[in-house]
Amino acid sequence: MHKDISTILVSETEINDICETLGHQLNQDYKDKNPILIGLLKGCIPFMSDLAKKIELKVDMAYMSVSSYHGGISSSGDVKIKMDLDISVKDRHVLIIEDIVDTGNTIVTIVELLKHRGAKSVEIVTLLDKPEGRTKPYEPKYVGRTIPKLFVVGYGLDYNEYYRNLPYVGVLKPEVYTNKESN
Ligand code: IMP
Repeated sequence: MHKDISTILVSETEINDICETLGHQLNQDYKDKNPILIGLLKGCIPFMSDLAKKIELKVDMAYMSVSSYHGGISSSGDVKIKMDLDISVKDRHVLIIEDIVDTGNTIVTIVELLKHRGAKSVEIVTLLDKPEGRTKPYEPKYVGRTIPKLFVVGYGLDYNEYYRNLPYVGVLKPEVYTNKESN
């Protein structure tokens, strides 16, 4: 698996620092607020798990599964809810936990949906942000690291469901996907 990676973009140590910094910020900003952490499956899993351990507040943890990629390396722009929440967001402060924000399609759709369902506030906590990829204007409030417009994998991020278990975020060698994009 490691041989398919050309560069490590965010190392394990950096990821740990990011979780500590964001956790500290959230502890201050959400003091006495009892927020719901909503993880967007499947990419959120390693990040949500590590971040939640740095949060010293009483939080609910819930998950949604949405998809906008259908196996390739670019967003289809069409966001589908594959698994919905099992908790009400009405009058609650919500923190959406994302692995990466690219075009903004996923986040804009989910923020609108949760506000429509009566959430008191909705903010995004994302490990990575690719602002150059944005087609819908949205600035996530809590960003671990801003990265250039590259296709990255690891620490929850996949290519065709693989590489999510890498402990770091890396750039996939182009030859891994160029021959498979037509599949
Ligand atoms: P958006 O809707 O275009 O902002 O895309 C958000 C989702 O696309 C993320 O939650 C990821 O699942 C996926 N995604 C965007 N960029 C990458 C990437 O570089 N590698 C892997 N998945 C990505």
